[in-house]
Amino acid sequence: MRAVRPHESLHAPAIGACVEYEQSARPNGQIRRGRPDVLRADEMLDYFDVLADLHRSRRPTTYLEIGVFRGDALRLASEDAVCVGVDPEPVLEPGNGGHCHIEAMTSDAFFASPRPRELFGDRPIDMVFIDGMHLFEYALRDFNNAEALSTSESIILVHDCLPRDAVTASRERTTDHWTGDVWKLVLCLLDCRPNLDLSIIDVPPSGLCVIRRLDPSDNTLRDAYNAIVEKYRPLGFEAWEARSADVLQRTTNNPEAKSWSRRKEFVALRDRLAESEAESAALRDRLAKAETMRERLARSETRTRELEAQLRLVSASTSWRLTAPLRRVGASVRRRGA
Ligand SMILES: C[S@@+](CC[C@H](N)C(=O)[O-])C[C@H]1O[C@@H](n2cnc3c(N)ncnc32)[C@H](O)[C@@H]1O
Repeated sequence: MRAVRPHESLHAPAIGACVEYEQSARPNGQIRRGRPDVLRADEMLDYFDVLADLHRSRRPTTYLEIGVFRGDALRLASEDAVCVGVDPEPVLEPGNGGHCHIEAMTSDAFFASPRPRELFGDRPIDMVFIDGMHLFEYALRDFNNAEALSTSESIILVHDCLPRDAVTASRERTTDHWTGDVWKLVLCLLDCRPNLDLSIIDVPPSGLCVIRRLDPSDNTLRDAYNAIVEKYRPLGFEAWEARSADVLQRTTNNPEAKSWSRRKEFVALRDRLAESEAESAALRDRLAKAETMRERLARSETRTRELEAQLRLVSASTSWRLTAPLRRVGASVRRRGA
């Protein structure tokens, strides 16, 4: 692993987004590697789970991550893969990137440099995760540059493509959690590259877009870059609102997105099942206690009846009746004494 540049000043916008999510979703900074379908019901499914699953199922031999931050997603890459993380200010302790190469520069500088070729050689990049600067034109350039180094079998993943509200999805960052206007890349790809296969997986915190059927020889976006930026950059959140239903309908039909929504359903159901089992156990416990009480009541009632019968026997006996005058005298003596 190459040396990591010290990072006294952090890249505010993108890092802020990470910090907010990390603190809420991964309090210990731990990354799970377990299979999503055996997750405990109280664990949330998020983009790390989707990434881990893709690493496991696709086994990319070459992996590039743009925007590394603490390296949490980067560490999901298999040890067998040539793994490269690019970030101008990675928040990664030296030695904490595992087997991955950390390139401390912007993605534009990386793609313009000989580093991709030096690191990957002639091999195409099997899987790319775009999670660097959260502005449309940066994400577009990252996509263009990544696709040029891919094959039709590769996949490109884009983080933060499912905006949650106008404030966190705007170009100006005013909140901790900030997705920026990366969502415009989805609209742009649907409009300009209809042959791409897009799938949006609705996982916290702000979705993951999986792009397949790449074509490194397609120059549509590269040739029209300026016009595209001019068209999409000024769009406001209302542009997303106007098209989101259509976008989601078209992109969540993909088997992968479906499979993930099934998993969410699975975890939610397992959660409810666990709650229901706990309630049944508590009720069984109360019922067992009630049954013990019922048995004690039955025993007590039997004893009461036996005592009543014994009392009746004693009252009906000759000796009790013959000694009645004595008891009356005794009682009157006690009254006088009192
Ligand atoms: C959201 S964080 C990345 C989180 C990481 N991918 C993960 O899931 O654990 C965004 C990172 O992008 C980096 N970044 C900002 N501008 C960049 C650029 N032009 N090129 C590459 N990375 C950039 C920031 O320094 C920050 O660490």
